[in-house]
Amino acid sequence: MLPSSINEAAQRPPTVLVFDSGVGGLSICQSILSHCLGVRIIYVADNASFPYGTKSEDYLRHRIATVLRVQCEQYQPDILVIACNTASTLVLSDLRGMLNIPVVGVVPAIKPAAESTQTGAIGLLATSATVQRHYTDQLVADFAAHCDVIRVGSSRLVEMAEQYLRGGEVNNSELTDILAAFFCPTLNRPVDKIVLGCTHFPLLRSQLERCTPQPIVWIDSGNAIAKRIKGVFDSLDIALDVSIAPIHHIRFTGAAKANEAFYQRLTQLGFQNFEIEEQIS
Ligand code: DGL
Repeated sequence: MLPSSINEAAQRPPTVLVFDSGVGGLSICQSILSHCLGVRIIYVADNASFPYGTKSEDYLRHRIATVLRVQCEQYQPDILVIACNTASTLVLSDLRGMLNIPVVGVVPAIKPAAESTQTGAIGLLATSATVQRHYTDQLVADFAAHCDVIRVGSSRLVEMAEQYLRGGEVNNSELTDILAAFFCPTLNRPVDKIVLGCTHFPLLRSQLERCTPQPIVWIDSGNAIAKRIKGVFDSLDIALDVSIAPIHHIRFTGAAKANEAFYQRLTQLGFQNFEIEEQIS
C-alpha cells in the first residue's frame, strides 16, 4: 500500500498550486488555463491574511511558509506558482530552499517594459510594499537604468479588484486619481507602458484602459508565466493530456464570499469544473 501522498501524486492530473493573498492570482490562472490545457489548478488564497501589501516582511515570511507547507503536503503539486508580486519579491528564495518542487514566482515585468518603451518612461503600478522592495530596486537597476520609472503603490486598487470579482462596481474617477501620477505634466518624458505589478490589477485592465488621458500599453506577467509552466512540465517530462478537463480546487483560508457574480467571473476566466472550499486553515 502506497502512502496516501504518493498515491495522490500518482493518480491525479499534472497539478499546479497557484498561491496569492486573495483573488489576484486568478488573473495568472486565466493564462494558465488558456495555454496549458489538461493542467489541474489548486488555487490557494490566503485571504485570512489579506491584504499582503500592508503586512510586515517578518509576518509574511512566516505566514506564507506555514500555509504553503501544509497545502503542498496535502496536494503534492508538480509546480508551485507564487502568483503574488508582494510575496514573490520577498519569499521566493526561502520557498525554493524549503520545497523540493519547482517554484515559479511572479515579479513585476520591468524588463519587457524597459526593452520596449518608445518614450523612455515606464510606470510601475503595484502594492505599496512591492514598489518599495529591494527586489524591485534591483529589477530597475538591472533592466531599466536607462528609463524614468514612475512607481505608484495602491492598496485601494487591490480592494477594488476583490470587489469587482464579486460583482462590485468600479468607480472610474477613483481609478483616474490612482493613475494620475503617471500623467503628471511635470514628468520629463511621457509614460507609454505601465507594468501591472500586482496580480489583482489585470482583472481591472479594461476599466484601467478607459481612465488614461493617452494610449498606454499595459504589461503583466500572465502569459509569460503560463509559457514558463509549460516549459517546466516539459523539463519534468510530464505530458499534459489535453483531452481531460480536470476539477480545479479554489481554496480560501478565510471566507470565500462566493456569490453568483463570483461563479460567473470564474467561468469567464476559464474555469470549467471547480470546487470552492473556505476556512481551510
Ligand atoms: N496580488 C498581490 C500581488 O500581486 C497582492 C495583493 C495584496 O496586497 O494582498 O502583489
